[in-house]
Amino acid sequence: MDALRFLLVLSIISSSSSAAATAAVNGGEKVALELYYETLCPYCSNLIVNYLYKIFESDLISITDLKLIPYGNAKIKSNGTIVCQHGKYECILNTVEACAIDAWPDVNDHFPFIYCVESLVYHNNYTYWETCFEKLGLDATPVIDCYNSDRGTEIELRYAAQTNALEPPHTYVPWVVVDGQPLYDDYRNFKSYICEAYKGTPKPSACSKSSIGSIRKMKMDLLNSLFGQESFESKFSRVLSAIFSWLQ
Ligand SMILES: *[C@@H]1O[C@H](CO)[C@@H](O)[C@H](O)[C@H]1NC(C)=O
Ligand SMILES: *[C@@H]1O[C@H](CO)[C@@H](O)[C@H](O)[C@H]1NC(C)=O
Repeated sequence: MDALRFLLVLSIISSSSSAAATAAVNGGEKVALELYYETLCPYCSNLIVNYLYKIFESDLISITDLKLIPYGNAKIKSNGTIVCQHGKYECILNTVEACAIDAWPDVNDHFPFIYCVESLVYHNNYTYWETCFEKLGLDATPVIDCYNSDRGTEIELRYAAQTNALEPPHTYVPWVVVDGQPLYDDYRNFKSYICEAYKGTPKPSACSKSSIGSIRKMKMDLLNSLFGQESFESKFSRVLSAIFSWLQ
């Protein structure tokens, strides 16, 4: 298994450096990709940890305007309190992730933190979410201050309004919307919708059939068939956490 992990690390590193080299793409508006989610929903953490990060690994992020909206199926009671589907801890983490987006508005800056927290959710270890600041070398102060002040609630109420204004309304989470169109059950397939919606030329290499991405996908499909989807995915996310710790 060590050889396999090493191979994967190499292939991730080589595909992300080639992505950096070909990142300049012109002539089209970025495609809006919105993820409406709540922090403790298993399908949401699975999407973020096993699928969504690939946007950053390939040059897809160069044509994508990714917005995360951590509110999901929460409800506002008549007394103004927000009640979350998976209980109080979900409300805490929704607000923490909302505060991270507020503190580091560039998606390249807040995504690693959200990825880290959602990895802990995925591995059922989310009460250690504060370790993500240290793991990623981030200053916790802006997020903790936001959480402890009215700012966190204010942002959550704004996300509530944005979620409740969806047309058509969301019926479950994760709810992925590309240029205003919900993907429904096909949400894991966001890449093909982004590539199709992008009007610029040339399309980034992540969109082409012969790209490293699709070769890697073939490798992954093969490995999935050998090791089974879930077990392979969790190995893969451990590899990614290893990379995150190397990067700091
Ligand atoms: C608001 O109402 C909810 C239940 O509807 C309750 O759990 C909560 O304690 C109330 N909050 C305040 C501040 O009254
Ligand atoms: C949860 O995270 C803590 C802190 O990183 C770690 O010490 C612990 O081993 C983890 N537990 C599990 C079950 O992964």
